[in-house]
Amino acid sequence: MTIAVYPGSFDPITNGHIDIVKRACALFDSLIVAIYDRPEKNLLFSVDERIALAQTASEDIPNVSVRAFSGLVVDFIHHMKADVMIRGLRATSDFEREFEMALMNHKLAPDIELVCLMTSAKYQFISSSVIKEVARLGGCLDGMVPDHVAEALTRKYAETYTRG
Ligand SMILES: Nc1ncnc2c1ncn2[C@@H]1O[C@H](COP(=O)(O)OP(=O)(O)O)[C@@H](O)[C@H]1O
Ligand SMILES: [Mg+2]
Repeated sequence: MTIAVYPGSFDPITNGHIDIVKRACALFDSLIVAIYDRPEKNLLFSVDERIALAQTASEDIPNVSVRAFSGLVVDFIHHMKADVMIRGLRATSDFEREFEMALMNHKLAPDIELVCLMTSAKYQFISSSVIKEVARLGGCLDGMVPDHVAEALTRKYAETYTRG
């Protein structure tokens, strides 16, 4: 039984993330989507909101669960008795940072293997930050995020503007 952990901010989950989730699920017995609860990062959605959005996005996939974590990702992976960490790579923006983190994580926990899945070409340009920018400016997000995520973004920005 091989358990994989896919950690990230998921602020919010996008179709690019979901593609990686589905592909990782086909490779491993079970996958934990691990949502990083880091107060110091400037995030749009709370950890509970990010969990709910990711849960709805993965409700049709049987071997996925969604959990929040804080602290070192390698500690969380050990805690879950998982074997593998999953990350997604877009060309070429992610490589350097992922490489640096991978070497550090390997130093901290040599028993955890990292598996990087290359983005599918159609999701190459999708990042949570660009999605938020487009949503804030009222652009159409069809094909980039699930409907429930697009609705959550619309609500969130409506709230932000009403509060001033
Ligand atoms: N469109 C995409 N295609 C493939 N992988 C992606 C895509 N968007 C994000 N990822 C990957 O998903 C993981 C989580 O990303 P993100 O939510 O931005 O969290 P983090 O704060 O750890 O970068 C990272 O490995 C990132 O490279
Ligand atoms: Mg990122």
